[in-house]
Amino acid sequence: MEQRWWHNSVVYQIYPRSFCDSNGDGIGDLQGIISKLDYLEQLGVDVVWLSPVYQSPMDDNGYDISDYQAIAPEFGTMDDMRALLDQAKQRGIRIVMDLVVNHTSDEHPWFVEAKANPDSDYRDFYIWRDANPDGSAPSDIGSIFGGSAWQWDEENQQYYFHLFSKRQPDLNWENPAVHNKVFDMMNWWIDQGIGGFRLDVIDLIGKEVDKGITGNGERLHPLLKQMNQATFGDKDLLTVGETWGATPEIAKLYSNPERNELSMVFQFEHITLTWQDGDKWQPKPLDLVEFKQVLTKWQVELKNEGWNSLFWNNHDLPRVVSKYGCENEYRVKSAKMLATTLHFMKGTPYIYQGEEIGMTNVAFDSLEQYKDIETLNFYKVKTESGVSHEHMMQAIHENGRDNARTPMHWNSDNHAGFTTGTPWIELNPNYPEINVADALEDKASIFYHYKQLIALRKSHPVIVYGDFIPLLENDPQVFAYERKDSHQHIVVINNFSNQTVELNLPAHLVEQECETLISNHQHLNRLPARYSLTPYESIAVKL
Ligand code: NOJ
Repeated sequence: MEQRWWHNSVVYQIYPRSFCDSNGDGIGDLQGIISKLDYLEQLGVDVVWLSPVYQSPMDDNGYDISDYQAIAPEFGTMDDMRALLDQAKQRGIRIVMDLVVNHTSDEHPWFVEAKANPDSDYRDFYIWRDANPDGSAPSDIGSIFGGSAWQWDEENQQYYFHLFSKRQPDLNWENPAVHNKVFDMMNWWIDQGIGGFRLDVIDLIGKEVDKGITGNGERLHPLLKQMNQATFGDKDLLTVGETWGATPEIAKLYSNPERNELSMVFQFEHITLTWQDGDKWQPKPLDLVEFKQVLTKWQVELKNEGWNSLFWNNHDLPRVVSKYGCENEYRVKSAKMLATTLHFMKGTPYIYQGEEIGMTNVAFDSLEQYKDIETLNFYKVKTESGVSHEHMMQAIHENGRDNARTPMHWNSDNHAGFTTGTPWIELNPNYPEINVADALEDKASIFYHYKQLIALRKSHPVIVYGDFIPLLENDPQVFAYERKDSHQHIVVINNFSNQTVELNLPAHLVEQECETLISNHQHLNRLPARYSLTPYESIAVKL
C-alpha cells in the first residue's frame, strides 16, 4: 500500500460554536480556536477538522451555508481564517474544512434567485416538482430531520426538495452548472492552503428523487471521480466522506486509491447498533459481541483495499464515555479504555473536542434548554405521534446531538473559561470536576493517555499498517485483538464491563514476555495464562 501522510495522522474535530469564545458574545470563534492551538499541539494532533464556519443563518448551526466563501460574523472574518491557517501551519497542524454541498441554506443567493425568478439559471440548481393532482407532495420521501422532504412554495406553486430542514434546500447534482460552481469554490479553498475536506452527507449527492433513491445513487461514484479530478485529485489532501449508508464494499469504492475518489469515509454501522430499528430515539443497550463483529469486519475487509476512519463520537453523537463507558464511578478509567481500543486499530483516528478530557453527556431537565434543530423537530414529531414526553427526554439525554455541543471545559472558572458572556447553550454542570486545566495538571489524566496514544501511533508503524487479528471474539465483556507485521506484534486487551473478568488468553500468547505500551491499571512484563481484568481495565503490550 502506498503510504500517505494521513495514514499515521490523528484528527481533532472542532465544533467552533462550542470550542472557545474570544469576544464574549457567548459563541465560540476563530480567534478562540487560534488561542488554543498550543493546546492542540501539546496533545499532538496533526489535523483539525473544522465544522462549518461559513456565512449562515445558523438554522442547523452552520450546516446551512449562505456563502461558501465568507465567514459567519459570529465566528470572525476571512482574515481570522487566514490567521488560523497560518498559525496552525506553524505548529504542523492542517485544517480540514467541512464541505456541505448536498444542500445550501435557503438564504444562499442561488436559492434566493431560484425562488424569486423561475426563469433564472439558478432555478435548476435545486429540485422543484409540481404537486400531485390532489395537491399532495410528489412522493413520500421523508426528511432526515422529520416530516416530508418536500416543501410547498406558495409563491412558485411548486414543491422543492430538502433532505434536512426546509431551510436547507438540496442542490440538484444532475445539473452540471452546480458541479462547476462547487468545484470552483473548492479550488478557491484549496488555494487558501487548507489540508482537505470532510464531505458532509456526501452519499446523498447521487440522489434520484423521482425513483425514490436518496443514498448511494448510481451517479454518486462518477460524481466523486469528477470532483476528485476537478479539485483535490492532484493535491496531497485528506478527504473524508460522511456516508451513513456505507458497507465495507461501498467504502472500498470510495477509498480504494486506484479509484481516485476519497481518502476514507466515516461509516456508522457500529454507531447504529444501539438504535432500535435504526431509530436513534429508541436507544438500546450495546451488545459487545455484535459491536466487535462489526468493527472487526471493517478492519478485515479494508485490509488491503481502502482505508478506515476510526471514531467513537462527533458533533452529532453522544459522548463516548457516557455511551460505551461509565461516566460516574469509572469515568477516567473507562475513557482511557475506550481510547486505547480505538487508537490501536487500523485507520485514521478522530478525536472529538472534549473527548480527550472525558467530557460526558448532559441531561437538561427541560426541552427549552435544548437548541438542536433535529432534537426539537423530533420531539414534536414523536410526541405528536403518541410517544411520551418522558420517553423523548430520556432518548434526548441518551442520543441527542446537544450532548456533544455543550461548550468545551477549559477550566473551573465561570462558564468553564469558554466565554465571558452568556453561552449560546448551557454548560454541562460538571465542568468544575472535568476540565482542561485540571487535566493538564494531572499526569494520570485522560489527556495524557490520549497524548501517549498519538505518540505510540507515530513510533509504531505496526499500529498504522499491521494486520488486525481479533481475539476472544465471543467474549461478551472483553474487546481484544492483535496487531502484527513482520517486525512487531502488539496485543490489546480491553474490559468493556464494570465487572472483574477472568481472562483466558489463547495458548499462542500465554507466558510470552512483553513490554507494556500503555495501560490504565497495571503493567505486565509477561502474559499470564489466567488474568483478572479489573472493571474497564485496558492494556496494550508489545511482545
Ligand atoms: C451531517 C452533519 O454532520 C449534521 O450536523 C448536519 O445536521 C447534517 N449533515 C446536515 O448538513
